[in-house]
Amino acid sequence: MFTITEFPLPYATDALGPYISQETLQTHHGKHVATYIDNLNKLIDGTNYQEVSLVEIIKESANRPEDKKIFNNAAQIYNHDFFFHGMCPNCEAQIPQEIIDTFGSEEEFKKKFKESATTLFGSGYTWLVRDGDELRIINTANADTPIAHNMKPILTADVWEHAYYLDYKNRRADFIDNFLNNLVNWNFVAENLKK
Ligand SMILES: [Fe+2]
Repeated sequence: MFTITEFPLPYATDALGPYISQETLQTHHGKHVATYIDNLNKLIDGTNYQEVSLVEIIKESANRPEDKKIFNNAAQIYNHDFFFHGMCPNCEAQIPQEIIDTFGSEEEFKKKFKESATTLFGSGYTWLVRDGDELRIINTANADTPIAHNMKPILTADVWEHAYYLDYKNRRADFIDNFLNNLVNWNFVAENLKK
């Protein structure tokens, strides 16, 4: 059994204002993530998936079309936990040098990440990943996740409408600007960049 207390927000629900409201975080974490957890528990009840970790559930179910619902709910729990940990209130750390070296400048990285996030059609996530030796920006659709494709996640922005609609309505680009300029936890990113 997975529980919401295993996947706590790393800050208070009102900590990311004015960029993400308390109402959004309460709904996003307390309702959406809680529902994915409830769904997963029901779906894996009585199966071998109960014996393994969340990451193992994702990797195993990714190759089994008949377990698509299990994959979707497990990946959503993982993706959200990763997204929430990639932000912090009043973050003061600097963007890691490896990102600047790879993309040319902080501005160029943010421009490419924003382009990717704003052109993602429908629901999904924009990620910075390590793919082999390469740092890349990719999009995944719906619940899909880089760990199902042997890529290491470094940072993600949730661009499902439920992540920003209460605060930004249809202005996804403004949400991404605030995410990149005011919310990213670069210390978390730096930890993930360590090989
Ligand atoms: Fe979400």
